[in-house]
Parts: sequence; C-alpha cells; structure tokens
Amino acid sequence: MGDMKSFKVLIIGGTGAIGGELIRCYQEWSLSSGVPLDLYATCRHRSSSAQSGVTWLTMDLRRPETIFAAVKKLTSLTTMLNHWVCCTGYLHGAFGSPEKALKALESEKILGDFAVNSVGPLMMFQACMSILKAAPLPKAVFLSAQVGSIEDNRSGGWYGYRMSKAALNMGVRCAAVECGRWRHPPAVVVVHPGTTVSRLSEPFTAHRHPAPQTAEQCAEQLFLRIQSLGVQETGTFQRLDGSVIPW
Ligand SMILES: NC(=O)c1ccc[n+]([C@@H]2O[C@H](COP(=O)([O-])OP(=O)(O)OC[C@H]3O[C@@H](n4cnc5c(N)ncnc54)[C@H](OP(=O)(O)O)[C@@H]3O)[C@@H](O)[C@H]2O)c1
Repeated sequence: MGDMKSFKVLIIGGTGAIGGELIRCYQEWSLSSGVPLDLYATCRHRSSSAQSGVTWLTMDLRRPETIFAAVKKLTSLTTMLNHWVCCTGYLHGAFGSPEKALKALESEKILGDFAVNSVGPLMMFQACMSILKAAPLPKAVFLSAQVGSIEDNRSGGWYGYRMSKAALNMGVRCAAVECGRWRHPPAVVVVHPGTTVSRLSEPFTAHRHPAPQTAEQCAEQLFLRIQSLGVQETGTFQRLDGSVIPW
C-alpha cells in the first residue's frame, strides 16, 4: 500500500517510447526533489525488460474487461492519484495501416482504432475518477495528435487515426467540462507530443531530415508541461510548449 504522503502517478502505456521516457522523468524528479513517488503504469504484456520501481498493471484497450480489472487492482493499492497520463495510441501494426483513400476503409479496422485511441482512454479515465477526485490538484493528460484537429486537416488521409483522435479530443473536452464541477477541479487536457522517434511514427519518419525529436526530448518537455499545467487550461488541446491547437 502506498504512503499517503507520496506523489502518485499513473502512466497508461508505460511500454511506449514517450510513456517509457516519461516514467524516467518522474523517477529522476523524485530522486532530485526527495519527494517519494508511487508510480503505476500499464502494459499489454508483462516483460522482463520492464522498468523497475514501477507497479505494472496489465491492460489491453481493445478488451474493456481488462481496463476495469487493471483499475480495480490500482484502487486496491492507492486511494488517490495526483497525475494521470495516457500515452497509448495505435497508428499501424497487426490491426492494419493508415488509410490513404476512402476505398481502403474497413469498418472493423476503424472500430479498432476507436477502441484504442478514443473509447479505451476515456473508459480508463472514467474508472480512475474517484481516485483522481481525492487529489488536491489532479491533472489528467491525454496524448492525442495534431492530425486529429478537424480545422487543421488540409491533406486528408489517415481516416481511422484522424477520426479516432478527433473523437478522443471531443471526449476529453466533455470530461473537462464535467470535472470542472469537482470540489477540487482538475486540469484535463489533450496534448500533441510533436513528431517523435517511436515504433508508432517509424514507417513515416525513418528517412526524414532532420530526424524528429527523440522520445527522451519529448518526454522531458511533456513532464515540464504537466508540472506547469494550471486548472485554467482545462479543456484545451495543446502543444508541448503550451500553445493551443484549434479543434
Ligand atoms: N510518435 C509521434 O510522432 C507521435 C505524434 C503525434 C502523436 N503521438 C501520440 O503519442 C502517443 C504515444 O505514442 P508513441 O510515439 O510513444 O508510440 P509507441 O512507442 O508506439 O507507444 C504506443 C503505446 O501504446 C500502447 N498500446 C498500443 N495498443 C494498445 C492497446 N490495444 N492496449 C493498450 N496499450 C496499447 C503500446 O503498448 P505496447 O508496448 O504493448 O505495444 C505502447 O505502450 C500516442 O497517443 C500517439 O498517437 C505520437
């Protein structure tokens, strides 16, 4: 059972490039500040290479029952959560690739994109609401993507990814409005991490010059962004420098 005086953080998708580096940032901050940290993170599969100092929860966003089981375990370990950060996302892989044209659309693939990129993160947040409510200044950050901006879409394509990130953005905006009525209102935001070297971006950025930012660079900025995030920013879609992206 975690100590009530320790700082408590949940990273959803701790095995990802950005999620893994964000874990490291929180651990370094705890070491340098002397603030005890209880760090929880989700993974799809337990791995022997998983970072230490973390309580790992197994969960697959395509399987809603695993979301509730993971949060049940989490709430048996802590009654409070200060920061909640969702670093999961699906763009390409075993379930299909981004669609370049309408003729490539397949409903099952797109429904899967919604499960991972929009519905799953919202269900995860819903399940964590009671422990976030117990924090003095709760913060919840959902990693989305600028390509999920409807206003900013001038090149089209990537239907499933764009649609599911736009749906995530709307869900988070709704949650921010609703949670603004809590006794301690949280900061609930959507963040575009910027193009970053990772498995998710690799097929689309491998030959890009200059190379995109590293996950380490991204996570360091994200960590600072989360630290300085204020309640007045709730319900916004932001870049890592805090500038606002049109929905
Ligand atoms: N990299 C970029 O250039 C870029 C740009 C814009 C937005 N983003 C967003 O930033 C976030 C982090 O991306 P990243 O670059 O760090 O990608 P990444 O390294 O591929 O990490 C993706 C994470 O999502 C998890 N995940 C995928 N499907 C899942 C599922 N069904 N259930 C549970 N977890 C699942 C992965 O778990 P496994 O390890 O088990 O696969 C991994 O932890 C995503 O939301 C992405 O859309 C990234």
